[in-house]
Amino acid sequence: MEKMPYRIELDTVTMPPAVAPVVSSNWQQGLPTLAGEQVVLRELRASDAASLFALLTTEEVSRFISPPPTTVEGFERFIAWTLRQRLAGTYACFAVTLRGFDTAIGIFQIRELQPGFGTAEWGFAIGSPFWGTGVFEDGAELVLDFAFDSIGVHRLEARAAVPNGRGNGALQKIGAVQECVLRKSFQRNGQYLDQVLYAILDSDRREATAAVRVH
Ligand SMILES: CC(C)(COP(=O)(O)OP(=O)(O)OC[C@H]1O[C@@H](n2cnc3c(N)ncnc32)[C@H](O)[C@@H]1OP(=O)(O)O)[C@@H](O)C(=O)NCCC(=O)NCCS
Repeated sequence: MEKMPYRIELDTVTMPPAVAPVVSSNWQQGLPTLAGEQVVLRELRASDAASLFALLTTEEVSRFISPPPTTVEGFERFIAWTLRQRLAGTYACFAVTLRGFDTAIGIFQIRELQPGFGTAEWGFAIGSPFWGTGVFEDGAELVLDFAFDSIGVHRLEARAAVPNGRGNGALQKIGAVQECVLRKSFQRNGQYLDQVLYAILDSDRREATAAVRVH
């Protein structure tokens, strides 16, 4: 499940715990730019608000995620919030752009569930014109490397509403393991939906990348 809205109750700048076992903290000062075959992931900017508003508020993109902001200004506030949370060391949000173009067409988010990012949760949303094009998989590989190698995540969770065919299919194809169903855990449009809980462990990732190197 993707959580995009800026929420006032989350708008607190907390300093990271002094003893948090984070492998690399440089990302807190500014996210790196990550280049894949098709995509470049970079820090969000206020000027991304218009394209994200246009692409991520459509019915097909937003039907299984928490309601996105409803205005361009709402996205500007969300983007400002993401930068503050990154500085606080609890969260990172990348803009997805296509190589050679600077327009943001989606986002990947990672948030800390346990202090020090031992367990974290990720989520993603991409504009529907780019579905089925390989953009998701290319970006996801970059985010997984970033989460495990740069942040030092041990366990990366994701939640997908059961009727979200593409969300479940996307997670399965990048190696996320289905662990259980969280019954009626997500409310959308007045309805409670079951969600599938997925996880990727750092050891899963090491095995997967070693297998790719062998073949
Ligand atoms: C989730 C998302 C980023 C995935 O990107 P995508 O480009 O659609 O993903 P892909 O096409 O690479 O992978 C989806 C897979 O699910 C499969 N799939 C399974 N059930 C499906 C269904 N009911 N409808 C469509 N595809 C389905 C597709 O065939 C595809 O697998 P394949 O490439 O092996 O054929 C994108 O769909 C999105 O932004 N959705 C809206 C936001 C959202 O739901 N976020 C995820 C919350 S978990």
